[in-house]
Amino acid sequence: MSIVIHVEQLTKSFIRNDREILVLHNVNLEIESGSFVVIAGPSGCGKTTLLNIVAGLLAPGSGMVYYKGTPISGPRLEMGYLTQKDTLMPWRTVERNVEMPLEIRGVPAAERRRRAAEFIRLVGLEGFEKLYPHELSGGMLRRAGLARMLVTMPETLLMDEPFAALDAQLRLELQNELLSLWSRQRSSVLFVTHDLEEAIILGDRVVILGTGGQVIADEPVLLPRPRNAAHIRFRPEFISLHRRLWDALMESRQQVQRQEVRL
Ligand SMILES: Nc1ncnc2c1ncn2[C@@H]1O[C@H](COP(=O)(O)OP(=O)(O)OP(=O)(O)O)[C@@H](O)[C@H]1O
Ligand SMILES: [Mg+2]
Repeated sequence: MSIVIHVEQLTKSFIRNDREILVLHNVNLEIESGSFVVIAGPSGCGKTTLLNIVAGLLAPGSGMVYYKGTPISGPRLEMGYLTQKDTLMPWRTVERNVEMPLEIRGVPAAERRRRAAEFIRLVGLEGFEKLYPHELSGGMLRRAGLARMLVTMPETLLMDEPFAALDAQLRLELQNELLSLWSRQRSSVLFVTHDLEEAIILGDRVVILGTGGQVIADEPVLLPRPRNAAHIRFRPEFISLHRRLWDALMESRQQVQRQEVRL
């Protein structure tokens, strides 16, 4: 299988209070084309920084990130990015926000409206098309952002905790929608979550990061597809993988805490 995203010896630091903070240190990661890779790790271990660099929004300190063999030097139309913070335009309605990436690509108005409506329905926001972002709840904002990312059907999806603010039932619904969409379209996905159940339900592979973005665990998820988010969690393979990943996450959390004490 070919590699769609290749992170090679990636290092990134920030300056805070005149001190350099090393966030990513010699990180190496390969994402296979068409695979669904989930990244988990304690808060502050550099997940969002990694995604920002892969999305071409932030330059690496040193090292390289390649998209299909080409160094990433800026945002690319083939990649959709659902950022951790909401980035809807406050002066546009839900519908006009979802249409925006199609506008950028020069899609005619009628087609834009049709596709926006389809994805608004998919994320369960039918009836809220005319509302502005400040009129939406946190979960609705996330869903509108999801629709806006999916509407162009990008070949690669970067998603940073997209379902974190949603109630359990809606989360299950959207997990199932994402799975069925992905199985039809076979995009490559890099998905960040804090929730290990979500990681196993969705992923072909779960990568746990620790201090400096180091890979603490990298496990394939061998559960058969199609998966139903509501049922799969009771399978013995699910439970044993969850336990192994949980242990790795605990280890990496302790590492990050030790580092924060040193800082
Ligand atoms: N622009 C910035 N300037 C300074 N420090 C930053 C900047 N962006 C991130 N950091 C620091 O880099 C570290 C990693 O941040 P990042 O947002 O990548 O973590 P994360 O793993 O996504 O955490 P979370 O799970 O809480 O979202 C943190 O210590 C954060 O304070
Ligand atoms: Mg983050």
